[in-house]
Amino acid sequence: MQNKKVLLTRIFPESGIKSLKEAGFDVTAWDKDRPMKQDDLIDQAKKHDVLFCTLTDQIDKEFLKECSHLDIISQFAVGYDNIDVAEATRLGIPVGFTPDDLTDATADTAFGLLLAASRKMFYLHKSIIEGKWEYFRPNANLGIELKNQTLGIFGLGRIGIEMAKRCKGAYNMKILYHTRKPKPEAEKELGAKYVDFETLLNQSDVISVHCSLNDSTRGVFNKAAFDKMKPNAIFVNTSRGQVHNETDLTEALNSGKIWGAGLDVTNPEPMQPDNPLLSMENVAVLPHIGSATVEARNKMAKTTATNIIEFYKNKKMPYVVNPEVL
Ligand code: GLV
Repeated sequence: MQNKKVLLTRIFPESGIKSLKEAGFDVTAWDKDRPMKQDDLIDQAKKHDVLFCTLTDQIDKEFLKECSHLDIISQFAVGYDNIDVAEATRLGIPVGFTPDDLTDATADTAFGLLLAASRKMFYLHKSIIEGKWEYFRPNANLGIELKNQTLGIFGLGRIGIEMAKRCKGAYNMKILYHTRKPKPEAEKELGAKYVDFETLLNQSDVISVHCSLNDSTRGVFNKAAFDKMKPNAIFVNTSRGQVHNETDLTEALNSGKIWGAGLDVTNPEPMQPDNPLLSMENVAVLPHIGSATVEARNKMAKTTATNIIEFYKNKKMPYVVNPEVL
């Protein structure tokens, strides 16, 4: 695509850059492994037609006011809460995303965190490093089992469905879910049952969060929610840290309101090393690596590029958040 300039805001997998170059785009890639400062992001974006960005870039009203000339914003992520989509839509800028590429990788992360929390794995791994493995202890380091337990999925989209399949297949777990609209196809496939939020909280042994972050999900897992959960419950979040209130979660774990937690996302990110959650036995935390597999990240980079290429070729994008502007 002659003369079209694409700004890549981070160091992304080569698969995306290669596709863009082969299609004739003029590609500039930010070469530091950290987010651009907002002023640099705006300055650079002003010189480009397309933004190839990700969840650490703040594409807010202010940015869009300065960069309303952009033809397209193509996001390397399934979540796009860092982008003011309403404003982009008002300005006629299509926003692309990568929903199909990281489903398995993220469901694996949720499943791994569940297992890790249920058997205190991260905590016990750390205890070996600290020289505390002395002898076999019959009545210590006890976790809890997941077989035949009830899984509550909050947000039954692609990733939630894959997490449910893993839990059903491995542990014959009964599946409850709460989401915007009941999903009869998933009910058939998983034997899942739609329940209201209250029922999800008080009947699930495990709650796994897979919703997107928006005004209706921000902070919903707060003190009132944790108070309604079972004392043996494990809370897993691989979506966005802002869906839970971290102070309330810490308090719920400390007071035994719930049993454990597995978090791939925190609030804020990065989590600081002295965060009390990191020293709790029944808590497993990862640094937002849900989609971090070679396979998923390569596919995401390719889709991010394909969204751009198809936009210029046919005014179509395979994965677009605001199709009304096309
Ligand atoms: C990761 O968090 C994503 O939204 O892709």
